[in-house]
Amino acid sequence: MTLDSADRVYSSPRTLARYVRCHFSGDDPCDYFRQVAAMVPDDADVVVDLGSNVGRSTFDAAAKARFVLGLDIAHEAIRVASELARGEAVAYDAALEGGATERRTVRRPETSGLVAFAVADAARPPVRDGVADAVLLLNLIDRLPRPRAAIEAAARLLRPGGVLVLTDPFTWLEEFTPREEWLGGAAGVRAAIEAAGLAIEEERDVTLVIRDHARRVETVTPRLFKARRRGGGSS
Ligand SMILES: C[S@@+](CC[C@H](N)C(=O)[O-])C[C@H]1O[C@@H](n2cnc3c(N)ncnc32)[C@H](O)[C@@H]1O
Repeated sequence: MTLDSADRVYSSPRTLARYVRCHFSGDDPCDYFRQVAAMVPDDADVVVDLGSNVGRSTFDAAAKARFVLGLDIAHEAIRVASELARGEAVAYDAALEGGATERRTVRRPETSGLVAFAVADAARPPVRDGVADAVLLLNLIDRLPRPRAAIEAAARLLRPGGVLVLTDPFTWLEEFTPREEWLGGAAGVRAAIEAAGLAIEEERDVTLVIRDHARRVETVTPRLFKARRRGGGSS
């Protein structure tokens, strides 16, 4: 899938409303994004969230870090994330039942750190190599044409000792990723992370609960990897 097509898919009004609800409605009893953002080191200055969509993980990481940059290819997701960052209320149509919807609004979570958002390709982030204390790569790699390149780009952004937090359910689809680029399951992704010069420190399942409408909930169990770029101390 080209960058333009990915932008179209993730910028459609229905998909956007689904992500706004998933990220900010408080529907998820597992509080997936807060759990994952808790892996960001306490003293982090700079965090980059690749594939942030409307930015819940970006805001949650900014509860710990001084500055978090959310990057995504979907213009509409970045527009919404930027509105939230400015303190604006964002309205979306929450699906109820039988096709009925209800207009609801969300606001950004309060954070001690600063956030900013920009449209960018995760494989070529507009950030200098070696500046990030942590990089988030959440549920993105199985939506990319070259997932290995995105892991390598994330590793390059990290300073020595910096931390990559990667989650993914490994839902490889040929419409997003040519079959020869699929990394397989946990073993394949683990190998790709290690090949990018990172040492895995923690690996486990996490649960994300997504409410579609009043009578349908989807449960996803992404694998989480916390990995550190070699060459720095641990924290
Ligand atoms: C499955 S969603 C995950 C979003 C968010 N990280 C989460 O966990 O809810 C994949 C996201 O990746 C974005 N994306 C797809 N291709 C991208 C690329 N080449 N660079 C940056 N973002 C991309 C999509 O716009 C979408 O927001």
